[in-house]
Amino acid sequence: MKHVLLLLTLCCSLTAVAQTPVWQDASQPTELRIDDALSRMTLAEKVALCHAWGKFYSGGVPRLGIPGLWMSDGPHGVRAEIDWNEWKTAGWTTDSCTAFPSLTCLAATWNPAMAERYGRAIGEEAVYRGKQVLLGPGVNIYRTPLNGRNFEYMGEDPVLAATMCVPYIQGVQSQGVACCVKHFALNNQELNRWSINVECSERALRELYLPAFRAAVQKGKVWSLMGSYNKFRGTHCSHNDYLLNQILKQEWGFDGAVVSDWDATHNAREAALGGLDIEMGTSQRPDKGIKGGQFTWDECYLGNDLLKAVQSGEVTEEVLDDKARRVLRLIFRTALNPHRQTGNQDYAAHSQVAREIACEGIVLLQNRKPTPLPLTVKEGSSHSILVVGDNAVKRLTEGGGSSELKAQHETSVLAAMQQEYGERVQWAQGYLPECNDYSREHGVDQRVTDSLQQQAVEMAGKADVVIYVGGLNKDKFQDTEDADRKQYDLPFGQPELIEALARVNRNIVVVLLSGNAVAMPWADKVGAIVQAWYPGSETGPAVVDVLTGRVNPSGRLPFSIPVKLDDCAAHSFGTDAYPGDGKTVTYKEDVLVGYRWHDTKKIPARFAFGHGLSYTTFEYGKMQAEWQGKELVVSVPVKNTGKVAGKEVVQLYVGEDHPTVVRPAKELKAFEKVLLQPGETKTVSLRLTPSDDFAYYDETSRSWQANRGSYTLSVGRSSADIRQKLRFKY
Ligand code: BGC
Repeated sequence: MKHVLLLLTLCCSLTAVAQTPVWQDASQPTELRIDDALSRMTLAEKVALCHAWGKFYSGGVPRLGIPGLWMSDGPHGVRAEIDWNEWKTAGWTTDSCTAFPSLTCLAATWNPAMAERYGRAIGEEAVYRGKQVLLGPGVNIYRTPLNGRNFEYMGEDPVLAATMCVPYIQGVQSQGVACCVKHFALNNQELNRWSINVECSERALRELYLPAFRAAVQKGKVWSLMGSYNKFRGTHCSHNDYLLNQILKQEWGFDGAVVSDWDATHNAREAALGGLDIEMGTSQRPDKGIKGGQFTWDECYLGNDLLKAVQSGEVTEEVLDDKARRVLRLIFRTALNPHRQTGNQDYAAHSQVAREIACEGIVLLQNRKPTPLPLTVKEGSSHSILVVGDNAVKRLTEGGGSSELKAQHETSVLAAMQQEYGERVQWAQGYLPECNDYSREHGVDQRVTDSLQQQAVEMAGKADVVIYVGGLNKDKFQDTEDADRKQYDLPFGQPELIEALARVNRNIVVVLLSGNAVAMPWADKVGAIVQAWYPGSETGPAVVDVLTGRVNPSGRLPFSIPVKLDDCAAHSFGTDAYPGDGKTVTYKEDVLVGYRWHDTKKIPARFAFGHGLSYTTFEYGKMQAEWQGKELVVSVPVKNTGKVAGKEVVQLYVGEDHPTVVRPAKELKAFEKVLLQPGETKTVSLRLTPSDDFAYYDETSRSWQANRGSYTLSVGRSSADIRQKLRFKY
């Protein structure tokens, strides 16, 4: 009897094991589980995976119990919840986040370890909040300082952006949350972003605009990617066969899912065949007369229309299967990932990460003699500090479009200064950050501006030191989505205000909170200039850490700051090159973007790419280069010759001496940040693979070519401050 019972139990459990579908069996290889899940699905269920079922939710397979994907912006924090069907916040009370520094600030750290910590911390918050996909990072190349969204990107150089985005992605994905790297591709302006057609050479595409995406895919192993709004060579990027199928999926081997930007899908067949896997953000179908309020989710292009197209044979089932397989893979990597973490919302720990990144990203642009920084305010003295500017109090985690955050806290510069120096700190607003049509028409804003300015100048005359905190502010036309800036100058009368302040007090420090370069015709009149980006929750403490010298600044510019707008490559070719004629924009500067233009055309920038001062000084010894297998190892000793510890960013640029095509005078190929104690020397070794790093993209053979010949290797502190050079025969 005992034996019979045992046999029965065994049989039952065997049947149970046999009945567990392969897709549910975590011990099976993922690809097998995906095949199994796919084999159980109807055509309609496969289609349902390919489009949104909510503002930030795309479909799963409810009948089988396969969950869908819950997404969130990105990239600076986990966004507040949005209503299921409408563009308004859902009003939750548990959706505050840590606001991390803008990606421009992260890029300015030139420290990949910071990017990994950033990714891990934001990933922890995303997984805690139940998200499967985080919509970021953004890696579009900084082509013009007028682009409203540069603050969400990682600067003008493909090697810097590629190096910094990979650890960010790895950090986020270590939590079982997918990154969705964006906006693929050539989304380099917000003006006319919905439809502008970008024309650029194959070389510029390959050498500048694609490498960061390629690194995200091949090195970062990113699980999803967002197709952009704009067109490239006449076709919308979210259904661009060349970009999505031929380059991304075939050439680079991307096995994840392509997600459309929100409302970037325009046609079922073209999108389906063009490589789009998940359609998001569609909310009406003007082509079918379906307006906003009447729209249901299966009316997405990749909904009923795709189903019909497959049923009629216009789109093959193989194409649909490939999409469904990619979406399932994304679901298995996230929602069904056995290693998915539980995450946390440890605001204190994450704020610390945010503060350290902000401190490393802040760039000391100028510190003229007598150097006002670090501040020397004696304990117990009657030193008075005047803080001027609206940005000293404004919440800059708000605004900017989809990257807007509901920060659990945001400490302003004024609050942090008061915490540091108590009652010695006074504040004057100095300028009016916004004005409406009524006030403009009736001259009210001018009167208010005049009186704010007058008050600030009077107070500045009596202060020992003036800390001016201005910049842009994420309102419309001031670093925000869907609108470019209208001018290179600082807005709201700030240039005049800075000059007026400097006339009454030479001891003035200008702190710029912005994600973009601004004109600085007043630079010679002020003592120090600090580029502090948008540091997030810890804005004030990070800025004050640097001003006081508690932190020795080590940020370096991820883009050039031209003297005037015309000095920027994209603006020196007239309106065809920016903003275009409303339909098309042509990248006439070709491969000469940013410092590649300044260096090659010998047009000095006000502050060069890679520039950033320190409270200490560094000396470079003799550089050397030697082969190690296929790699060329370039080493250079660097010494801290000052009195305080500091971090130096050693940058290695390569230029071909006698190129057969137009090439930039030099290009960044490697860099490393090192910490040096006073008097300490370290030898920094940077590795090059000449067959790749010396190459340009040859349009005739459609391949990368590294010519044999002579190259100049330059090591320095910035693209304009080269300390060592070496001729090298390849
Ligand atoms: C933006 C994306 C964002 C999406 C969802 C779009 O308008 O371009 O970057 O992820 O909205 O908010």
